[in-house]
Amino acid sequence: MRAVVRHEYGDTSVLRVEEIDEPEAEPGTVVVEVAATGVNMAEWHMMSGEPTMMRLVTGLRRPKRPGLGQDVAGTVVGVGPGVESFAVGDHVFGSARVSWANFASASADLLQPVPPGVSLAQAAAVPMSGYTALQAPRTLGTLAVKTIAITGAGGGVGSYAVQLAAKRGAHVTAICSASKATFVRDLGAHDVVNYATTDPTSRSGCFDAVLDFAGGLPLSHWRRVITPGGTLVLGGSEGGGRVLGPMDRSLRAPLTRGLKAVTLMASTRGEDIAELAFALASGELRSTVSQTYTFDQAAEAVDALRGAVHAGKIVLTP
Ligand SMILES: NC(=O)c1ccc[n+]([C@@H]2O[C@H](COP(=O)([O-])OP(=O)(O)OC[C@H]3O[C@@H](n4cnc5c(N)ncnc54)[C@H](OP(=O)(O)O)[C@@H]3O)[C@@H](O)[C@H]2O)c1
Repeated sequence: MRAVVRHEYGDTSVLRVEEIDEPEAEPGTVVVEVAATGVNMAEWHMMSGEPTMMRLVTGLRRPKRPGLGQDVAGTVVGVGPGVESFAVGDHVFGSARVSWANFASASADLLQPVPPGVSLAQAAAVPMSGYTALQAPRTLGTLAVKTIAITGAGGGVGSYAVQLAAKRGAHVTAICSASKATFVRDLGAHDVVNYATTDPTSRSGCFDAVLDFAGGLPLSHWRRVITPGGTLVLGGSEGGGRVLGPMDRSLRAPLTRGLKAVTLMASTRGEDIAELAFALASGELRSTVSQTYTFDQAAEAVDALRGAVHAGKIVLTP
């Protein structure tokens, strides 16, 4: 089967489409014929090997495993022993191993049926960004959140986070560029701040929580705009240098006097993909795919993700 791989770390020129072995249906897993697969910043990190700290896990000099991709939607073509929830022919979405390929193996408990009315591309866009949007508010514990600000609101994670926060009763301020203002309003944002012309931290004490999926502003700036007892969730940043990347902000946050910050490390969870499927089915969550690329265009897709012109999500199709 064909798969997008890389054998060394680097920019998008290291990406290749090659023939690799098809996965087999092992106990507890199913094999999905991939119709579409999500493009996340995680794949850029896995491709570039940055922050370099992660190479302790992914391979010091070169990647231990050439394959990429985790979000998947497609058709079940193989069912492993012990799996009763799916049958050959089912349309599913969720998290897989090496999903930038014609076929991907996935743990059955990390898959859900594609809800009616949701396309395979829309479903493939959801898992990783959806987990992150769903899990971010949970880091706030018992904090009563009436007002929330979300940076990166027009991107993959942000577009899901805006919808979930708004539908669950918070007053949402979306922080994004002017080109995405209409998009985030349609998703349910009550206010929109264009960070290029207005400093979103210039007011004082107006947000119970800030979900930061952009990392564009110094930590100390957020202190003044968060209500006493409120929290900054460090959800994403592409700054921080080659070694530490986003961990740089997390390490510095405790040193920022007067700021309560928590770091989000989203994870794949069976209950959460079920909740995301339910949210898609009920209309609580809408998945917007603004750009689709083929496997042969994977380099363009990753460059486009980094360019951040897209509203919502980017997906790849075989
Ligand atoms: N914590 C976790 O476990 C976890 C999981 C998944 C992803 N992430 C991280 O979350 C971040 C977002 O991921 P994504 O997939 O949503 O990426 P994305 O689709 O590229 O979205 C990022 C968005 O941020 C916007 N942006 C850039 N600078 C900004 C600023 N200063 N203020 C507000 N918005 C700004 C960009 O567009 P505009 O400039 O046009 O507004 C873009 O829409 C990444 O850093 C990713 O690594 C973290």
